[in-house]
Amino acid sequence: MVGHEPLWAWRIARTELEAELPRRWAHTQGVASAAADLADGLGCDRDLLVAAAVLHDVGYAPRLVVTGFHPLDGARFLRDEHQVDARVVRLVANHTFALLEAEERGLRAQLAAEFPALDDELLSDALTYCDMTTTPDGAPTTPPERIGEIVSRYGPDSVVGRFIRRAEPEILAVAGRIERALPDQPR
Ligand SMILES: [Fe+2]
Repeated sequence: MVGHEPLWAWRIARTELEAELPRRWAHTQGVASAAADLADGLGCDRDLLVAAAVLHDVGYAPRLVVTGFHPLDGARFLRDEHQVDARVVRLVANHTFALLEAEERGLRAQLAAEFPALDDELLSDALTYCDMTTTPDGAPTTPPERIGEIVSRYGPDSVVGRFIRRAEPEILAVAGRIERALPDQPR
C-alpha cells in the first residue's frame, strides 16, 4: 500500500473486513486505490478521501450489523468505537447516494439527522465515483456496468435494486462532473 494513506483507517478496515468478507476487502482496496489516484487528479484532500474510501463499506462487517443499512451501521461504529474524524464519518454515512437507499428503508430522517452530508460536493462526488468505477472484486469498471451488475446481483425489485435504479441518473451526473474536473489525460 502507498505510504500516504492514514494507517489507522487501513487498520480498522482490515480488522473488520479482511477475514470475514474477503470480497468486500478486495473491493475496498480497489476503491481506495482509485481514490488515491483521483485525489491527485482533482487536487482534493487525499488523506480524507482515501480514509473515507478505505472505510466506506466497513458497515457490512457481520459484527457491526445493527440496522442492516451499511452506511449507517458503519458510520455509527466509526464514530462510537473509534472516534473517527467527523468528516470521514459523514462521507461514509452518505456515500453513493445513501440517502436514497435510506429512504427505501425508512431511515432517511435518521441518517440525515445523525450524519448530515458534507458540504463538499467534490469530495462526496469523488467517493461515489470511486465506488461506482470499482467492481466487487476491486477491478476498474464504468458506472453503467457497475449499476447493471448491482441490479443483477440484488434483483431489480429488491431494496438495493430499486435504490440503484433511482440513483442511476445521479450517479451518471457525478461521473460527468468528475470526468470534466479532471485534467486531460490518457484514459
Ligand atoms: Fe457501500
